[in-house]
Amino acid sequence: MNAPLPVQVLKQHLIDPEICIRCNTCEETCPVDAITHDSNNYVVDPDICNGCMACVPPCPTGSIDNWRLVLRADAYSVQDQLGWEELPQEKALPESADAGAAAALPDAVPPEPSVAAGVAFSAAGASVPPWSAAHPYVNLYTHKAPMTATVVGNYRVTGADTESDIHHIVLDFGDLPFPVLEGQSIGILPPGADAQGRPHHARQYSLASPRDGERAGYNNLSLTVKRVTEDHGGAAAHGVCSNYLCDLAKNDTVQVIGPFGHTFLMPNHPRANLIMICTGTGSAPMRAMTERYRRRIDTGENGRLMLFFGARTERELPYFGPLMKLPRDFIDINLALSREAGQPKRYVQDLIRERGPQVLDLLADRNTCIYVCGLKGMEVGVLDALRDVTMQSGQDWSILHDVLRREGRLHFETY
Ligand code: A2P
Repeated sequence: MNAPLPVQVLKQHLIDPEICIRCNTCEETCPVDAITHDSNNYVVDPDICNGCMACVPPCPTGSIDNWRLVLRADAYSVQDQLGWEELPQEKALPESADAGAAAALPDAVPPEPSVAAGVAFSAAGASVPPWSAAHPYVNLYTHKAPMTATVVGNYRVTGADTESDIHHIVLDFGDLPFPVLEGQSIGILPPGADAQGRPHHARQYSLASPRDGERAGYNNLSLTVKRVTEDHGGAAAHGVCSNYLCDLAKNDTVQVIGPFGHTFLMPNHPRANLIMICTGTGSAPMRAMTERYRRRIDTGENGRLMLFFGARTERELPYFGPLMKLPRDFIDINLALSREAGQPKRYVQDLIRERGPQVLDLLADRNTCIYVCGLKGMEVGVLDALRDVTMQSGQDWSILHDVLRREGRLHFETY
């Protein structure tokens, strides 16, 4: 049984281009840089991949979890994979190689992914959900069989005179099931084709509404979408999907895939506390979770909510008005404004430090989960701030960080 894998056989790790939503999670997670991408596909370099599986649990769609037994000499190259529209069929190996490979699998094949067991961790956050999270459904609708949703609302949630054109978009699914949880995302298929004439890939958006709908009891959900007019470097750039979405009118239809995500989920047990840290449209999952809590405010089930929210100014902070109307004893709101006239520049991490004692108090409770969503750049800043407040109290951040990851209590979604 434990004969070594014949050297000529490889269990090749592949990504299914039909399910992949190009979210970059795998490329960021891979500890050996075996994953790369172009404008078409995310692919795994067979010469570098060591089958460590670190990339598998964090993948929100499961597209990463594909394997083919191939002769090493026939391994699909990076170039091959970049050109794929779908995964190739499994090919029969020559008989001698096949038998040997089967016998050798226990030694040669990486363990099956086990999200529940939480064996793999992404660099900073957990790759398992909190223990009490509800069961998420994923991939119910795919590129090949998307769902048609109808736009029932689309309005701007930032000041009209500001640069940040952020929209709240409500999609209705009619009679078709689209079960979601707070923290999950969906994919939108923008119409048209890219420069190579290929249909546009889906773009991923986090839900801004709770599981029971943007309007409670309705089969709908909402998204928070920023119109992209420039790239990260500030050069002019036209966001294909964000502009499409922000320009939609009521009753327009949209092709939707998903839902996606099985880790960035809220705890489902009573009196769980949430620390939510976000910038800009990263507020979408925080709105979803907060709204879930708000709807059961009178039940006595809620734990504490603490929010750190970064934006340039109040007028550029999505949902500013409704947020500020929430009762102070329901949610502890901390706004970090970076470009408000007459005020010092503040980032969320500055406020985490300022509120260190309260953050620590929550962290000491095993019922507390932390969610971070927004600009990639804040990830390091937030981790540093959490380390500082922990160390100042004499605790070892590296130990606490490991515990938070292992227990599915620290989640990042940055872009
Ligand atoms: P800044 O004014 O320096 O850009 P945006 O409006 O671009 O989506 O950004 C949302 C908020 O996040 C802004 O206040 C922005 O500040 C802030 N921000 C930018 N970089 C970081 C970072 N590295 N850590 C935390 N916040 C950041």
